[in-house]
Amino acid sequence: MTEHSVIGHDVIEHDVVVREDIDETALVGMARALAPAVSAGGAIHLVGELGAGKTTFARALLVALGVDGRVKSPTYSLIESYTLGSLTIQHLDLYRIAAADEVEWLGLRDLDVGRHLWLIEWPERAVGALPSPDLIVHLAHAAHGRDLRLEAVSPVGRQWLGIVDPGSVGPFRTAS
Ligand SMILES: Nc1ncnc2c1ncn2[C@@H]1O[C@H](COP(=O)(O)OP(=O)(O)OP(=O)(O)O)[C@@H](O)[C@H]1O
Ligand SMILES: [Mg+2]
Repeated sequence: MTEHSVIGHDVIEHDVVVREDIDETALVGMARALAPAVSAGGAIHLVGELGAGKTTFARALLVALGVDGRVKSPTYSLIESYTLGSLTIQHLDLYRIAAADEVEWLGLRDLDVGRHLWLIEWPERAVGALPSPDLIVHLAHAAHGRDLRLEAVSPVGRQWLGIVDPGSVGPFRTAS
């Protein structure tokens, strides 16, 4: 794991941030805390079984970024797009995709111009056909709530986790 502090520059990089058995309010709080960090664009893959909280997390992130009105789940449409100033956000749910080539008609590569934030549920359905992730959000059912693991998988993702303000979401437990 990469975890280092640069004294004087206040840079803390984390590879992994873990929150165990959190309720929905805390999960939404984590998404909100992440929002300022990701507003420059990048790719987030959301991984977890049915009902694990992927859309809940994505929706909280979208609202925190400033999307107003109803945030629809892309369960049926596969993709929902949002424009916030110069930032375009693409929220995908690939649960219904059986093979990577089935997403080709979406033309994701052609869409990926300018400042883009990708939020992709069920990315494992289309491995290789998607923007590679900066951050993987892992969600799993726990005894009462959900286990959340934010895994940075690029320098950008590590930077994001360094920016997240732990004070706004309670103590972080970092793990390798
Ligand atoms: N701690 C929690 N975190 C997130 N969601 C929770 C939590 N506790 C209960 N829930 C509920 O669990 C459900 C999560 O549904 P959600 O649509 O976010 O899951 P999903 O991972 O996107 O599922 P799918 O794979 O079907 O798209 C919501 O109804 C939400 O209210
Ligand atoms: Mg969902």
